Amino acid sequence: MESTSYLVLARKWRPQSWDDMIAQEHVTATLRNAIQHNRLAHAYLFTGPRGVGKTSAARILAKALNCENGPTPDPCNQCSSCIEIAEGRSVDVFEIDGASNRGIDEIRNLRENVKYAPAGGKYKIYIIDEVHMLTGPAFNALLKTLEEPPTHVLFIFATTEPQKVPATIVSRCQRFDFRRISTRDIFQRLKYICQQENIPAEDEALHLIARKADGSLRDGESLLDQIVSYTEGTIKVEHIIQGLGLIDQELFFDVTDILISKDVSRGLDMVEKVVSGGYDIKEFLTGLAEHLRNLLIGQSTGATDLIEASEEYKKRYLEISSSFREEDILRLIRIALDTQLTLKRSTNPRFPLELAIVKMIKLDSTVVIEDLLSKLQNFGKTGGEQNYSSPKNEKIPSIKEEKPEPLLFKEKKKEERSDNPESTDKKNLLTKEIVEAQWDEIIRRVKKRKITVGSFLREGVLLEVKDNTIEIVFGLSNGFHIDAIMKSEKIILEVLKEIFGTDVKFKCVKKDIPARQVDSPEERKKTDLKTLEESQPIIKKIVDDFDAEVVE
Ligand SMILES: Nc1ncnc2c1ncn2[C@@H]1O[C@H](COP(=O)(O)OP(=O)(O)OP(=O)(O)O)[C@@H](O)[C@H]1O
Ligand SMILES: [Mg+2]
Ligand SMILES: [Zn+2]
Repeated sequence: MESTSYLVLARKWRPQSWDDMIAQEHVTATLRNAIQHNRLAHAYLFTGPRGVGKTSAARILAKALNCENGPTPDPCNQCSSCIEIAEGRSVDVFEIDGASNRGIDEIRNLRENVKYAPAGGKYKIYIIDEVHMLTGPAFNALLKTLEEPPTHVLFIFATTEPQKVPATIVSRCQRFDFRRISTRDIFQRLKYICQQENIPAEDEALHLIARKADGSLRDGESLLDQIVSYTEGTIKVEHIIQGLGLIDQELFFDVTDILISKDVSRGLDMVEKVVSGGYDIKEFLTGLAEHLRNLLIGQSTGATDLIEASEEYKKRYLEISSSFREEDILRLIRIALDTQLTLKRSTNPRFPLELAIVKMIKLDSTVVIEDLLSKLQNFGKTGGEQNYSSPKNEKIPSIKEEKPEPLLFKEKKKEERSDNPESTDKKNLLTKEIVEAQWDEIIRRVKKRKITVGSFLREGVLLEVKDNTIEIVFGLSNGFHIDAIMKSEKIILEVLKEIFGTDVKFKCVKKDIPARQVDSPEERKKTDLKTLEESQPIIKKIVDDFDAEVVE
């Protein structure tokens, strides 16, 4: 089966001895030991993600047992038995693909076959790949063999989905969990292979491949193959970017790195890279907004379950999220989206992109009102002087935290209800008009407690109000907000109760409607300013005095 003219890297570099296998030392050390002390089990279950060495380990184990010098922990790889096993043509080693031999008949054949002594070697070894694919009856037949295994037989089952293997089978096997291989280890292996194969490659390019491989060394090797096949000379980052469509994530992480470094010239270099790389700038901005959204989720929830990215990327989102503040990320997203709009009117899309990146880098030189406020409040509390020992009973003026009055209905008292049982509940029923009139206020108050939730809510559309339940609909493109909103359900319920004076429920639905047109930045600024001014009159003064920009 293997091509003679050209052997793909993944096959050529299949580990032939335990020492060749990387990142699975916990498995190889134990197996080696077991062989040395003649304590082998009759059946092994190798589990783990794709391309991490399960089949390779099974073959090494087979060689270790049937090597002419064996059983030995270290097969010679030179005798005819070792060579035949490595080439997949040993008569005593059966590699069965569980996915295509799933049925009872195949397993019955196997049971028959198992009885006969090995032809040349010491053991008959059955390697069943993707064993979880076997049918129920096939598993039952297999179980019978496992219950009374002939001494010359060894089973090695491999699977990427161990939870689908019946417990009765698992309990008769010694189980080894193979690990996902780290980006670092994949990178080092790729580098080693390139050196051995005389493939010139930049480290950074190999890093990109390793990341893209997402834990599977085989995937990493196959990607490298792909790149080698169309690259002349040294493999560089550009080749990877063009060849593997890697651009998205990596470039966007570069952007966030640049934002952290606040280095404007690096920012402009980045724009150059995007422009000269021939990327569609609108698409780039969309991707950047999506990247920032992931960052926001990492930042505000501290978890990654809502992020759609590889485990590796999820980790990176969490790592960098500590370098950003929630409100800043929101502003960055807005800059990205607003820039998209201006692109349409611009003849040279490079300028808006440059402007956007510089704006993003310079983000925190604008005054953040909340910070200013809290400083002022603290200032007020210490009596305007650095007098930290002011007497306890001294009245210190501070901004009053007032509890907002319910705007509409007050809760009816019990007596009132019994007096007039029909009218009350009906009166308390909300209508769409009533909620609509308060919608901005609802969002404003939610925002005050949790800015992201308010912003997400704003992208929903009030659909209907029935039985005191508000239904909010989200388009398919912003439907992912629903999860984030429901995580803060309590906040919204509190606000609704505050405003309507009665328990109001709400639910979010996802429908195929166009995403809500978000207010223009000017309008938004106006409302936000109003909110702030209303809640904190001192803001107005600051804004006037400092000519500050009001941010969320
Ligand atoms: N731990 C490892 N050390 C060295 N090379 C590895 C390792 N894991 C995988 N490889 C490389 O990937 C190729 C495929 O590995 P292997 O067939 O053993 O993976 P697998 O775990 O059986 O994957 P699958 O679940 O897809 O069958 C090997 O030929 C080798 O080139
Ligand atoms: Mg395999
Ligand atoms: Zn040998």
